[in-house]
Amino acid sequence: MHRFTRDVADENAMLALGAEISTILHPGLIIFLSGNLGAGKTTLARGILRAMGYEGKVKSPTYNLIELYKISRLYFYHFDFYRFDDFEEWEEAGFREYFNPEAICAIEWAEKAGGSLPTADLQFFIHITETDHRYVEIQAHTEAGRRCLEHWQTLKNH
Ligand SMILES: Nc1ncnc2c1ncn2[C@@H]1O[C@H](COP(=O)(O)OP(=O)(O)OP(=O)(O)O)[C@@H](O)[C@H]1O
Ligand SMILES: [Mg+2]
Repeated sequence: MHRFTRDVADENAMLALGAEISTILHPGLIIFLSGNLGAGKTTLARGILRAMGYEGKVKSPTYNLIELYKISRLYFYHFDFYRFDDFEEWEEAGFREYFNPEAICAIEWAEKAGGSLPTADLQFFIHITETDHRYVEIQAHTEAGRRCLEHWQTLKNH
């Protein structure tokens, strides 16, 4: 099982999907949040963070490229590479070090970081439909990602 889709009727449903996703994530995972401007990538990250117990504001990392969260013992790094245009910036900001076994990294606009990024374990493609609904395509690209989706499947069957 490495691919499936979900209909997401509105913003609350996207937050709820984030809450479901939060139950299968573990440190060391890299997730890509993909989709057009305004698709709901940050909303999905917000749903994940809230369900993990983060009570503060979850803002878009568009201007800073990264927002850092520490939730009890968990590190969650939320990137947005929309404005990324310089590999030197990547090196200077020490981005490489954020990708480590202790942290979950969630990345918007990964395609703008070119080949700088490691492979995503999981990728969430958010598509906007003609009626302004969303559907989310969920894909695993690694063995760790596939195990997460299998775990998710078993949770849903109980
Ligand atoms: N089903 C839905 N899921 C998520 N957001 C929705 C949905 N329907 C409407 N919206 C609206 O779409 C917008 C999504 O904004 P969000 O910042 O999450 O997008 P984004 O993909 O992160 O955009 P950007 O590429 O600019 O970072 C919000 O204003 C939200 O209210
Ligand atoms: Mg965003």
